[in-house]
Amino acid sequence: MKMWNIDCKDQVGKSVTLYGWVQKKRNLGSLLFIDLRDRSGVIQLVLKPENPYYELAESLKNESVIEVTGLVTLRENKNDKMETGSIEIDVSSFTLLNMANEIPFSLSDNTNALEDTRLKYRYLDLRRSEIKDKLVIRHQIMMSIRNFLSDKGFLEIETPILCKSTPEGARDYLVPSRVNPGHFYALPQSPQIFKQLLMVGGIERYFQIAKCFRDEDLRSDRQPEFTQVDMEMSFVNEEDVMSITEQLIQYVFKKVKNIEISLPLKKMKYDDAIKYYGSDKPDTRYEILIQECKEIFKDTSISFLKESPQIDGIVLKGYASHFSRKEIDKLTEYVKSMGASTLLSLKMEEELSGSIVKNLTNEEKEKVISHLSLEPNDIAFLIPGDYSEVKTLLGSLRVKLAKDLHLIPEETYELLWVTDFPTFEFSKEENRYVACHHPFTSPKDCDVDKLLTDKAHCYSKAYDIVINGYEVGGGSIRIHDAEVQSKMFQALELTEEDIHEKFGFFVEALKYGTPPHGGLAIGLDRLTMILSGTENIRDVIAFPKTASASDLMSESPSVVSDSQLKELGISITKNH
Ligand code: AMO
Repeated sequence: MKMWNIDCKDQVGKSVTLYGWVQKKRNLGSLLFIDLRDRSGVIQLVLKPENPYYELAESLKNESVIEVTGLVTLRENKNDKMETGSIEIDVSSFTLLNMANEIPFSLSDNTNALEDTRLKYRYLDLRRSEIKDKLVIRHQIMMSIRNFLSDKGFLEIETPILCKSTPEGARDYLVPSRVNPGHFYALPQSPQIFKQLLMVGGIERYFQIAKCFRDEDLRSDRQPEFTQVDMEMSFVNEEDVMSITEQLIQYVFKKVKNIEISLPLKKMKYDDAIKYYGSDKPDTRYEILIQECKEIFKDTSISFLKESPQIDGIVLKGYASHFSRKEIDKLTEYVKSMGASTLLSLKMEEELSGSIVKNLTNEEKEKVISHLSLEPNDIAFLIPGDYSEVKTLLGSLRVKLAKDLHLIPEETYELLWVTDFPTFEFSKEENRYVACHHPFTSPKDCDVDKLLTDKAHCYSKAYDIVINGYEVGGGSIRIHDAEVQSKMFQALELTEEDIHEKFGFFVEALKYGTPPHGGLAIGLDRLTMILSGTENIRDVIAFPKTASASDLMSESPSVVSDSQLKELGISITKNH
């Protein structure tokens, strides 16, 4: 890196003018050193006591803003850790542009400030290279995406922010309309309907770096306001969309991090992802696969195992000695907190050990060992329960164990497609099948006839791109045939009224010559997290929200004045 105006050694002997922030001062008596920082990096300034600006410079508080002019000279003691460590500026003119107050927290890279403090003073936090560098990566990703897609004939088109509710399944953020009292806009959960309408409008290839809003429970990879790279194409099938997307991802990895990704990416069917990884976003950087174990216990005398419809397990090879009784208790608490009835551990030491072993016949013990291919110092964790419960629990456990035991290789990127998602999922709360994706997702051609008769076995032309266990993007081929669309609505038990009210205008649009089309949206924040090596989505957003969806800096959301509410015809009830 280089300071804006200075290209290190090439400038030795020349006079330069620099602007920036005082990062640090060191007064060695005979010399005053200042580390001057701007967006591009840090450079050392030097002032001798006879310098007319010496006193002013000495009085500066850290983070004050200055302008200096001086000669670029070679340093006597080079600092290899600094990009500009071979040179310094012998200051001849010095202007204080703005004196800073005492800074409320340390701006060093390894600051121990609480995240809440950093978010309250986010404009200061942004001065730390740890955050700033991630925003640089975000910018580079956006630029490379724009270049790639524009070269491939995609048009970048903006779609409305004040719109009608979109069908992504989360809760909407609503905006009251002053001119239409009692009516509300919804902020888009994604531009889904608009991008499909752009295809009806003959645009053929669209993209947008789009702000999306979802009022849902937040996690370390979820924000209420986030950014998608949203794409849609006409006259395509699943392979076409996946192919252009993986080329785009390959291009971004190369441009931004100089990492080669080989194509085509692997594909895994949704059912296999759940079966072996317990997740629809499998982290394939480590091979701890879920194994089905019911067979071992089919004649067991242990009643809760005999009655359990499913018993699955994972094996950690060579890790038995890592797990004391206490460690195993902690893991048991962990899975129980997520709803497991129990966690069974089986260690292969001299012989098989574990709480259930005394109730196993010799034959069953042999079966455990051979079925799970246990070798000395292996440990297996088993969970009984129903199919999806067992898979989800072991899916989380394998991720936790891989993290705790440092089994995840650094700087490795495992990318894959998860395909063949089910069209419907059974909602226990609603006691009916609901759409896995939005209701415009096309079913597989062979499953169209099953939409009304066999919902449990319908699959969609939907695909997610997964990187290192993150769902980075997802999309589908859409329904463009009015008959299939109406069958889908019927399958989702939507009444004519519902359909008309929710997306009547959209269904109408599909009647006037709709091209076959499909697309996908990449979570820009998640892609930036991966390429900048952080697990915290807030690190890659300039002004993020906390887990309770608030902005600590501007203190939003906030109450509004009675007159504003009155104008909107809104009154706040007491229990809010
Ligand atoms: P989906 O809902 O899968 O698809 O979203 C696409 C991608 O957006 C990212 N994402 C999020 N990132 C941060 N915070 C959130 N709250 C959040 N929610 C989603 C994820 C996800 O893979 N309209 C469809 C796309 C399509 O069918 O073309 C859609 O929005 O990385």
